[in-house]
Amino acid sequence: MKVSVSPGHNINGTLVMPLFEGTDAVPDAHAEGMHTSLKSQVNMVLGANDFKGKLKSTMSLMGTDGGKAILVGLGKSEDADVHAYRKAGAAVIAGRKKALGTELTVRFSGASIECMGAFAEGMMLRDYSFDNYKAEDDDKEDELEVRVTCDSGQEKELSALIHTLVGVTSGVHLSRDLGNMPPNDMYPEAFADQAWEWAKNYDNVEVTIINYDQAIKAGMGGLVAVGMGSSRKPCMVIFEMNADQKGRGPMLVGKGITFDTGGISLKPGANMDEMKYDMGGSATVFGTMEALAATGFGGKVTAITCMAENMPAANAQRPGDVITTLSGKTIEVLNTDAEGRLVLSDGLWKAGEFDPEYIIDFATLTGACVVALGHEATGLWSNDDDFRTRIHEAGNAVGELAWPMPLLPAFEKEMTDSKIADTRNLGAGRWGGANTAAAFLKQFVPNRNYEKDGEQIPWAHMDIAGTYWGAKTNTMVKNGATGVHVRTMYHLITNG
Ligand code: BES
Ligand code: ZN
Ligand code: ZN
Repeated sequence: MKVSVSPGHNINGTLVMPLFEGTDAVPDAHAEGMHTSLKSQVNMVLGANDFKGKLKSTMSLMGTDGGKAILVGLGKSEDADVHAYRKAGAAVIAGRKKALGTELTVRFSGASIECMGAFAEGMMLRDYSFDNYKAEDDDKEDELEVRVTCDSGQEKELSALIHTLVGVTSGVHLSRDLGNMPPNDMYPEAFADQAWEWAKNYDNVEVTIINYDQAIKAGMGGLVAVGMGSSRKPCMVIFEMNADQKGRGPMLVGKGITFDTGGISLKPGANMDEMKYDMGGSATVFGTMEALAATGFGGKVTAITCMAENMPAANAQRPGDVITTLSGKTIEVLNTDAEGRLVLSDGLWKAGEFDPEYIIDFATLTGACVVALGHEATGLWSNDDDFRTRIHEAGNAVGELAWPMPLLPAFEKEMTDSKIADTRNLGAGRWGGANTAAAFLKQFVPNRNYEKDGEQIPWAHMDIAGTYWGAKTNTMVKNGATGVHVRTMYHLITNG
């Protein structure tokens, strides 16, 4: 989708009309330059209350003299905030008929610049499909050209806002592309190669790859144990943005299991294909780096993705194995399907080397989190209450919910209660599985400068098992990977 901003009353292609509930005639702001027959047709529909303006509802109309319009509901005017505008924008794309063509002109009636931007953002976010593996002639659509009209005094500010949103959306779409890729083509080294190639686009970004042999040498026992049973060997990818900036910056860590069979603790066969999304955490991290780079962010940001494929094999790890992680702590592996926490143990510990301001990890970590929160909210844990609140609020600001969950000493105790190792990767029973996983990860969050009795670096864990894919109520995406939290992170990082 190409989006441009300009004042003026000419209508290119189809007119997009966002309307509040209760609108009974074409608002003055929309009327200028409208084809007469189209205008009377829209007036008829609104006058008869055939289009009620309910949020996300759409109606396509064609005038007899050639004009075309899409009406889209914004809901009640008193409730029409940026979230409503974003959803309405997405609904236009979702409900668009091919006959309306690829040129759209959006005209608002008294919307703020933020709301106009959010509407365009919703259109851009929803204008996505993953068709890399479809034949050329198979349903591929031409690129949409969208013109957002505004008052001449608003042009500069709205253009700048939309320019930023284009960059952020490119990060969301990258995250979705990575998640939707089939696992035969998206394996640890493929992800690393893509990151390496991507970094060439930006002068201020550097990507370092720690390959399998280097990971073994470094003592990354978690990453190695999970990945060694696959012919596609594991690796760690480090992204550094504006590394020469003074001071501390955020650190993002992602679980990147490019396919999770469960390993020797093999998963049931039904829907196992969905485990290609088990690298959603790493995709979130990569997508966020793209959003920041594309919008020219000048601050320091670092990220680590822990890439591995979890396979059952003659050389795979076994339930009962004890592994030594980068931190020096040992883990008794009681279930090879609880592999995300193993690779993250090394990623979190490694993060301490960069002396970050804070660490946030993203992981499709537990089915238990999906049981707790469904597909509606990400589970959010933190060792710092204020920090957790900041992340929760950043999510709310962009319409991506992350719900506070408890880190309790009892869960930590459960995960450190191994007879032969420092920790165990499985809880004692089936209850509270998302919380025990979070409590396990906390054992591997380093203290500032790795000081023995120092304070832990502020850290948050986001379990996106339910929100990274399969979110049917998410208006911003049709199906597949959602690209969730790229926008949350962009908001958190750029708004301080
Ligand atoms: N990748 C899965 C978690 C998952 C499940 C993500 C469903 C998305 C949808 C993870 O590696 C896993 O298998 N976790 C186990 C942990 C258990 C063995 C302690 C789980 O949730 O069952
Ligand atoms: Zn697993
Ligand atoms: Zn997994």
